[in-house]
Amino acid sequence: MSSYVTRKTPGDTDWFVSDRFGMFIHWGLYSMPARHEWIKMRERITDEKYNKYFKYFNPDMFDAKDWARRAKEAGMKYAVLTTRHHEGFCMFDSKYTEYKVTNTPAGRDLVREYVDAFRAEGLKIGFYYSLLDWYHPDYTIDHNHPRRDDPDAEQQNEGRDMHKYAEYMRNQVTELLTNYGKIDILWFDFSFGKAANDKPWMQGKGKDDWEAEALIKTARDLQPDIIIDNRTGLEQDLWTPEQYQPQHWIKHPETGEYVVWEACQTFSGSWGYHRDESTWKSPEMLIQMLINTVSLGGNLLMNVGPTSRGYFDKRACDALEVYAEWMKYNSRSIYNCTMAEPEFKAPFGCRLTQSRDGSRLYIHLFDYPYKFLELEGFAGKVDYAQFLHDGSELLFREGDPGHFSEGQSRSGELLVINLPEVKPDVIVPVIELMLK
Ligand code: GLC
Repeated sequence: MSSYVTRKTPGDTDWFVSDRFGMFIHWGLYSMPARHEWIKMRERITDEKYNKYFKYFNPDMFDAKDWARRAKEAGMKYAVLTTRHHEGFCMFDSKYTEYKVTNTPAGRDLVREYVDAFRAEGLKIGFYYSLLDWYHPDYTIDHNHPRRDDPDAEQQNEGRDMHKYAEYMRNQVTELLTNYGKIDILWFDFSFGKAANDKPWMQGKGKDDWEAEALIKTARDLQPDIIIDNRTGLEQDLWTPEQYQPQHWIKHPETGEYVVWEACQTFSGSWGYHRDESTWKSPEMLIQMLINTVSLGGNLLMNVGPTSRGYFDKRACDALEVYAEWMKYNSRSIYNCTMAEPEFKAPFGCRLTQSRDGSRLYIHLFDYPYKFLELEGFAGKVDYAQFLHDGSELLFREGDPGHFSEGQSRSGELLVINLPEVKPDVIVPVIELMLK
């Protein structure tokens, strides 16, 4: 069994740390301007102008079953959909606002269709719920708000009541966790401090502004096992490094315990659909990012930004296909796996994962070595070796590698695997070691 003990979580994370890989989906009115989900803030768009998107939002090609099938084929075991992003627009039928998808030409509850389709494919269901709201009349203007540079911005804040806004969030979280069956993840986003260039009257927003303890109590009273992230400013189940590749298993800042963590990443440089954004990750980056994350005991949440017509564009489908092709043959080195035990050191250019029951070790060949793979410290520990993708045996020997170099000096601990000179046609070939 894995020797790594992780910090206890309030929610049920057992399935989560086995499933390892999920789909993030950022979808909202911002899919229409198609130039980043923060477009309203970045371009200081007025409500009047932004309401054009509300007026015409109609994802006529939306097929949640197609999304779910693509996520499943890509090897994703759970999904997290933006039920409401910072723009404040609700992708679900809420009785607490008119600013919702059922009042647009779409005329239907898109969250409902997402839940039904992904649940039918056996994926766990997650909701992203923004703490920011650039539309709600009680949400005060801050340095992230589209109205932040209005000459009368400070005056616009007069009369706004964040307590009413916090109650609005509790009411909507109640709707989301009551009307859609069992929800497995609730993903809040995000708390922020006062910025150096804030105007004197501007403040950050954190747990007290969200009334986070009451918000989380509302969620847990309804769904006690739900997994909640850390972005309300209160530690819960998940630590959430974003657009960043940690180099170690994240530890609790006070206790030093390993924590349950999930890296969230985009295929390109935008969470929401961005027509003209070109920084799409290569197939190698996509696969290596997943392996890197699991090799450090984490989960990866990869994001798709659907078009306003309701489908995944070709670039997103191609990226999902990269995962589908690799996971079809190699998912055994991801699911139910975690960081390798300390006794196993990764050879140069490789990453290790190990099954949580300790029986199998996986060597991911990021750099394909010439003919041999030296494994120091593995002697006496391996019963059998094969390529994972095709189950073909890999012969190995222990002791002196016999290449006229240092000879017997390391023979006591060395295991050397013979590899084909030509790299198999797999983005990252994986060696599966059955341990003694
Ligand atoms: C960042 C982005 C936000 C996105 C989130 C996902 O906070 O600003 O738009 O929803 O990352 O983690």
